[in-house]
Amino acid sequence: MKGVGKGYGKVILFNEHFVVYGIPAIAAAIGNTTVARVEKSDRFELIDNRPETPGYKEEKKEQQKDSMKRILKAMNLDMEKNPVRIILEGDLVAASGIGASAASCVAIARALSEYFNLNLSDDQINSIAYEGEKGYHGTPSGIDNTVATYGGLIWFQRREEGNIFKRINLKEPFRIVIGNTGKVADTKRAVQLVREKKEREKEKFDRLSRDAETLVYEARDALERFDLRRVGELMNENHRMLRELGVSSKELDFLVNLSLENGAYGAKLTGGGLGGNMIALTPEKDLQERVARAIEKEGFQVNKTIIGGV
Ligand code: MEV
Repeated sequence: MKGVGKGYGKVILFNEHFVVYGIPAIAAAIGNTTVARVEKSDRFELIDNRPETPGYKEEKKEQQKDSMKRILKAMNLDMEKNPVRIILEGDLVAASGIGASAASCVAIARALSEYFNLNLSDDQINSIAYEGEKGYHGTPSGIDNTVATYGGLIWFQRREEGNIFKRINLKEPFRIVIGNTGKVADTKRAVQLVREKKEREKEKFDRLSRDAETLVYEARDALERFDLRRVGELMNENHRMLRELGVSSKELDFLVNLSLENGAYGAKLTGGGLGGNMIALTPEKDLQERVARAIEKEGFQVNKTIIGGV
């Protein structure tokens, strides 16, 4: 008996954090995935062989344990009675901001579903991964697990009565560069900081939320028209909003500016912020190379990937 499952890594193109409060956001799967394998064992074991930003796995160990418990509970699986070994691998770097936790939750749920012949649908996998995400995030919006489950480029809105998500169709895939600050960031803490800001500076938060809402509709139009220059400008604008929210960092701002100086159409932090990763829109191959090289020259890791291809 064996079970294998995979989950996509993701980037958020627009409105991380705002999405927690019901403002629509746009996110996309990237070509990298986490793969989980489930094997028979005499005791429960989770072996994490994913490539990582140094320190990430150690720092997330307790959150990962909590997440694993929640996944098993949501799937009604008893590891005392039916122990298994779960092995995590794949080419998605375990790092902050690129949906590593969500991708692993989806991969694990899929692999367990196959191993125990549960035949779960994607919608069921998505709900289980959402429960797993609570171990990492506390109050996740659901955007990460949704992209990790279905892939593609999606419009996502959190709603009490059921989240809305729709695929956005692109004329063709486009290239981006993901720059890794090398800093492990705590999404839970970032979400908490924003919550405090919302309570302390209500007017400012409301103004930023309104602007973020207007922006994301325009961004969807620009993506559908394939007006990548406009998409880039809106990414810059969104980065400014996220800075005002207080979730950027010195390294993120540095990499965003470096990308723009090297010709990127737009650049912004992606995911929780406070470290983790940023993205730069670089549709042409030579531009992607140039931006990636500039980031690497400064000693940071990059991932050259595409959006709209998976
Ligand atoms: C994290 O990838 C995205 C956040 O908006 C949190 C969430 O949506 O759950 C920061």
